[in-house]
Formats: sequence, structure tokens, C-alpha cells
Amino acid sequence: MVSSSNWGCCVKSRLATFDEFRDAISGYRLPRVLLAALEVDLFTVIGDRAWTLTTLAKKLKLSERGLNILCRNLASAGVLHKRGCVYRNSRLGATALNANHPAYRGDYLNLIRSHWADWIRLVESVRSGLPLDHDVPDSQDHRRQFTWAMHHRTLEIAPAITAQLHLGQAQTLLDLGGGPGTYALAFLTKNPRLRATVCDREPALEVAKEIASTHKAGRRLSYIPLDFSKESIPGTYDVIWYSNVLHLYSPKENQAIFRRARTALNPGGRLIIQDAFLHDHEGLYPSESSLFAVSMLLFTEQGNTYTASETAKWLKQAGFVGIKPVPIRKGTEDWEGGIWEASVPGPRPRMIATQKGSSKNRTAR
Ligand SMILES: C[S@@+](CC[C@H](N)C(=O)[O-])C[C@H]1O[C@@H](n2cnc3c(N)ncnc32)[C@H](O)[C@@H]1O
Repeated sequence: MVSSSNWGCCVKSRLATFDEFRDAISGYRLPRVLLAALEVDLFTVIGDRAWTLTTLAKKLKLSERGLNILCRNLASAGVLHKRGCVYRNSRLGATALNANHPAYRGDYLNLIRSHWADWIRLVESVRSGLPLDHDVPDSQDHRRQFTWAMHHRTLEIAPAITAQLHLGQAQTLLDLGGGPGTYALAFLTKNPRLRATVCDREPALEVAKEIASTHKAGRRLSYIPLDFSKESIPGTYDVIWYSNVLHLYSPKENQAIFRRARTALNPGGRLIIQDAFLHDHEGLYPSESSLFAVSMLLFTEQGNTYTASETAKWLKQAGFVGIKPVPIRKGTEDWEGGIWEASVPGPRPRMIATQKGSSKNRTAR
């Protein structure tokens, strides 16, 4: 059974003095400087050249005084290098933050930038208990942008995480709410015999198809457009990967999704969940997971973050057994203690011999 003490490593930061409180509420300053730099395309314009403040200010159409103070702070944060009045990009600035570099992760940066304006309106959601703009329907464009943002968010961690998740003899994997399919592609790359399916809404699947078309492993990927909060999941699978979706739904909705997932798993199949779990008895830590719940208040009708033990209870009620955390190396995790697995009773999918003596993956029933 799940115990919240499994993850006793949670960092607890408490504000006890006025000075600590003041420092915490002044924490907006550096983020605002970093976002201003993104807003004026500073890292892209600097590129791999060295610039004096005078020429850079002209190029960016900014005041030299303003740029001086902005760049000095960016240099003190380490994202620019300064020598006299000449500035260069750091390695980070020249790559992931530079729109002209292949490693640019701009779609994710744009999503975070847009959150600034939303978080300023937090009191509105605290008053109403409703997401901001809850009366504005979700547009296809927004869904596509969000899906690209999810790809840029996970393209480095997905291979690192899937390298540590052993699928055994599983032949089929469903990436439920898989969005851009970044995880599905990482699983396929690591497991050459695996076939995977991404299940999501149509605009997200369009993006997933574009991304998969540039990968060799993408040939083993298929797609199911579906609203799995309302409809049952077609097909059966050896593994369902459910990453960063749990927090979008209420406890009741999650319980219904778990029942659908169980029905869509073969005997012995596994549901592997990745999310911003809370690990202490009161549901406060890790603080990052508590803070993530604020985003759910701002952007979802019913979403929240949940303790690992309440999630385990829902899994048990849905008929899962063998509920346990999956350890992931520190520094390669998406969330601290963020992966749990649960199994459908029955023998695990295994290799069986074909008539010619070669072996072939089948699901044992
Ligand atoms: C936060 S993203 C996570 C994407 C990916 N699994 C990851 O870990 O990066 C949540 C995804 O779940 C999808 N999703 C949420 N609820 C869904 C539903 N009821 N039916 C289909 N897709 C859904 C969203 O469209 C989105 O692509």
C-alpha cells in the first residue's frame, strides 16, 4: 500500500520572518526582467555576436539607459556575458532562447510569458472558484499552440524518463492525453518492437502527426481522436501512459477515467501515471506541486493536484493492484516522486515462440 513517507525528501521552505516574507513577494523582479528580455527578442537579436550597448539599443529600438539596466541584470543572472559595455549571449541564451537556433524552445517560453498576465488576475479565480475566461470557448489555434508548448516543454526530459521506465515484453502502449506524442515517440525509440497510439483531441493530434513525420519511430505511431472524459477508450493495450493529465480533472472525473483505462488494458497490463503528486499527509509538499494547483485554479474547471495516497485509493477502487511509485533519478524527473504505476490483475504480457522458432511478442491472457 502507498505510504506518503516514501518520498520523505520533499523540500519544505517556510516563511517565518518579515524579511523572508518581503523577499518572497519581491521575487517577481528577476522573472519580470527575464520576460522583458524575451518580449524584446533580445537573445535572438544578440545571436552569436558580441554587441555594444549602443549598437544593440539601435537594433532593438530601445533606450540605451533601459537596455543598460536590463542587460546588467541579465548578466548578473548569468544569461548574458558582459565585458565592459560589450554583451554576448550565454550558451543558454544562444540556444534554447534564440529563435534562430534549432534548440529554441519558444513555444513553451511563450506559454509561460502568457501566464504572467493570467497570474496577475489570480484573485478573480480565488473569488469565483472558476477559471479565468471560463466563458470563452477553447479555440483550435490555442490548442495547437498549447500542444507545441508541451512538445518544447518535454523534448529533453521525455527520453531521459522513458529510458528509466522498463516496459518488459509490452507490445502496445497508449499515450492517453499524449498531446504532441513526445513521450510516445521516446517510448518507441527506446523499444523497437513497440507500437504506440496517441489519444487526444483532434488539433493536438494534428501537431503530433507533424512531429512524428520527422521521426523514424513515428511509423509505429497511430492516433485516436477522442474525449476520454466522456467516451470509453477503444482497443486494448499492454501499457497506458497517463502523463500530466490527472491534475486537469476532479477526483470523480479521475476515478471515471481510471475505470475506462482499466477496461482498455490487457490482463497484467500497466497504467503508469506521471503527475505533480503531493507526498505529505497534509498535501502541502513538494511546494512546486502545491503551486501547480494554482495554475489549475486559473485554467481548469475542476483541476487540482493530488496526494499520491488519494490517487492510489482511486486506482484500487477502479480494480488496479500493485500500486507503487516508480523511482526516477533525481535531476531527470518531471516532478519530484511524480511517477506511479498500477496493474490489472493477471499475468504480464510475455514473449511466446512462433512456429519458425523466432520469438514474437504476444499478450498473455
Ligand atoms: C498537460 S497536457 C500533457 C501532454 C503530455 N501527456 C505530456 O505529459 O507532456 C494534457 C493533454 O491531455 C489532453 N486531454 C485532456 N483531457 C482530455 C480529454 N478529455 N480527451 C482527450 N484529450 C484530453 C489535452 O488535450 C493535452 O494534450
